[in-house]
Amino acid sequence: MTLKDKVAIVTGGNSGIGKAIALELARLDANIVIDYLVDPTATEALEREIAELGDQSIGVEADVSKIADLQKLVDAAVSRFGRVDIMVNNAGIETRTSVLDTTENQYNKVMDVNLKSAFFGTQIAARQMIKQGGGGRIINITSVHEDWPMPGNTAYCLAKGGMRMLTRTAGLELAPHNILVVGVGPGAVATPINLSTMNDPAKLKQLDAAIPLGRMARPEEIANVVGFLAGDGASYLTATTIFADGGIMHSSVGL
Ligand SMILES: NC(=O)c1ccc[n+]([C@@H]2O[C@H](COP(=O)([O-])OP(=O)(O)OC[C@H]3O[C@@H](n4cnc5c(N)ncnc54)[C@H](O)[C@@H]3O)[C@@H](O)[C@H]2O)c1
Repeated sequence: MTLKDKVAIVTGGNSGIGKAIALELARLDANIVIDYLVDPTATEALEREIAELGDQSIGVEADVSKIADLQKLVDAAVSRFGRVDIMVNNAGIETRTSVLDTTENQYNKVMDVNLKSAFFGTQIAARQMIKQGGGGRIINITSVHEDWPMPGNTAYCLAKGGMRMLTRTAGLELAPHNILVVGVGPGAVATPINLSTMNDPAKLKQLDAAIPLGRMARPEEIANVVGFLAGDGASYLTATTIFADGGIMHSSVGL
């Protein structure tokens, strides 16, 4: 399977799952637009890693909670590589606050970075895909929490639940254009977003015990799913979510 001549945008692409996705799509021969908000040095290092794989990439600083910045990502892809074939809406944040404590500012930020960005990222990428013709893939990195409530993380669950319905509804609307919209729902993945758990041995032990496969995922294990979804093998998958969660959603061991 190859993504030769395809162009992918990966939001939040210079760390964690996004970085692993950028590398996996490059390994499959796609050219990559790496969106980042912070850490240009990490982005430049990733650009070099991708060049070593024989592919091209550009880092573009863009805040995905702003529609103009999402447009900037698509414009950069078109001006540098001529097209957009794969849009990965990956950037995300969480506040770990309950429904009782979440402030308006926290609520807005979580909704904007996770859900608004995926909505308008889908819209802007799909408009370009329709303009250039030939279909495309939109891959939304959601979470098991698109479906599975997590007390103490209410706004995040709400945003990921919204991404679930975005995936399903946009998948139906865009199907006539052969633009496939699929969610990837990770369980617990060893990335910076989980540092507080990873740095607390007692919490980590409790988490591992709740996961049927007995451990957190490596970011590459999520990226592999995205690589499959971006390719020819996934030509009949749309408006649904693939969960890569080590079985945790169906585990009988509570967190
Ligand atoms: N790690 C997990 O256990 C896990 C589980 C389920 C879902 N996810 C989802 O996977 C995605 C990636 O998370 P991660 O685990 O790699 O964590 P991460 O913190 O390494 O990645 C998040 C990325 O988003 C970027 N970002 C944040 N705000 C942004 C903005 N306004 N504009 C552009 N970029 C922005 C960050 O700079 C970072 O690069 C997120 O959507 C997250 O919700 C992660």
